[in-house]
Amino acid sequence: MSLILKGGKIVSYKITYFSDIKVDGEKIVEIGENLESKDCEIVDVSGSYIIPGGVDTHTHFDLDTGTTITADDFISGTKAAIAGGTTTILDFATQSKGKSLKAGLEEWHHKARNKAYCDYGFHMAITDWSDSVCDEMDEMIKQGVSSFKLYMAYKGTLQVDDSVIYKALEKSKNIGAIIGFHCENGDLVCELVDKNLKENHISPQYHAASRPPMLEAEATSRLMKIAEITKSKVCVVHLSCKESLDEVLKAKERGVDVVVETCPQYLLLNEDKYKLEGFEGAKYVMSPPLRNVKNNDILWKALEQNQIDTIGTDHCSFNYKKQKELGMEDFSKIPNGAPGVEHRVGLLYTYGVSTNKISINRMVELLSTNPAKIYGLYPQKGAIEVGSDADLVVLNPNKTKVIKAEDQVQNVDYTPYENYRLNCEIERVYLRGKEVSRNGKVIDNFPTGKYLKRSSN
Ligand code: URP
Ligand code: ZN
Ligand code: ZN
Repeated sequence: MSLILKGGKIVSYKITYFSDIKVDGEKIVEIGENLESKDCEIVDVSGSYIIPGGVDTHTHFDLDTGTTITADDFISGTKAAIAGGTTTILDFATQSKGKSLKAGLEEWHHKARNKAYCDYGFHMAITDWSDSVCDEMDEMIKQGVSSFKLYMAYKGTLQVDDSVIYKALEKSKNIGAIIGFHCENGDLVCELVDKNLKENHISPQYHAASRPPMLEAEATSRLMKIAEITKSKVCVVHLSCKESLDEVLKAKERGVDVVVETCPQYLLLNEDKYKLEGFEGAKYVMSPPLRNVKNNDILWKALEQNQIDTIGTDHCSFNYKKQKELGMEDFSKIPNGAPGVEHRVGLLYTYGVSTNKISINRMVELLSTNPAKIYGLYPQKGAIEVGSDADLVVLNPNKTKVIKAEDQVQNVDYTPYENYRLNCEIERVYLRGKEVSRNGKVIDNFPTGKYLKRSSN
């Protein structure tokens, strides 16, 4: 049966307008006023915004860190995504050392197959470079993996050196791919971690002390210079601070083709969390760490001024009990990461749009349209247009909600946003025309998310 959403305010990245939307099967088939049709389910959404389904291009579900596995797998992670208005995620398939990219991709397909409640795709993280891995990048493109990831930190496990960055960027330019970078100087992080531990500085605050903004800025600056030499398109993921942003802005002036992602945690939280009583600070141990509060405003301004292009969550959840506690005696053993996929849209609406920091159109651009465009999914995703997938989010701005870990869909025992008030409710979420979530609760009984083959440039 087809569906008509009536009376809502449609939000695109450019304009907001009243119109009805008709959906047939999985697609939007008509947008116009006073749409009527027999044999059609009519849903009155007056008073609400209709925004395109969120696209979160930075999640880590079912990730084995070597010491523990993320609390959310593809079942709970994608359920949390749809509950919060995100209908597409891109997760990081990761090459194991000594293995091929193909093996890494198959492993991630296995983790996600028949488990995803939203649509999904993969970036491919390269951790062990060789000529054959370079050749395999072509095959990844054929498999719909048009973006890659390189880590400049996590020495000994994920980190790659400058010559790998250079070679991978040369290759990515030739195949029309984009590479996202975790920018922190991993060698110096290791030195500072060792220094702190030698001085018996073992608590969570020393995680932040070992990863100062300068180390993020240094890696960002180095990346900008390598990308300038290779003339390749790059993405700086989870940018957290002014120092790193300044390097990006200088590089843009030199003509470097760079896009930037930040995350809600760097907009809404700050390093004071590491001063919390007892071991509570461990909940906020992530890389890069939370920064000085001044950075929050700087990043909001950068969003408003088009200096930052997307907001992903870097959802990488570990329970406080038993998982974060692995680092009770040594901050460097606290698994890095925090949950966020469920609350991205509500937080951005409340603390960005309701407070007039950004327009609702800019919110849609940052959460949905730009991620879809950058990662080869537009206009199938990221748009409310005839022919686009009917991934639709009905956001009611007249309701409120308070975030509580005990109510969340994410399978983790805390949220960094406990007691944060939301000035909206994600009332209905449609994935390719099917209602999958109502009032923040998943109503789909089985996983209908599809793998998305993405295009390259
Ligand atoms: O702390 C974080 N961000 N964990 C996830 C892995 C990464 O660096 O993105
Ligand atoms: Zn990272
Ligand atoms: Zn990440």
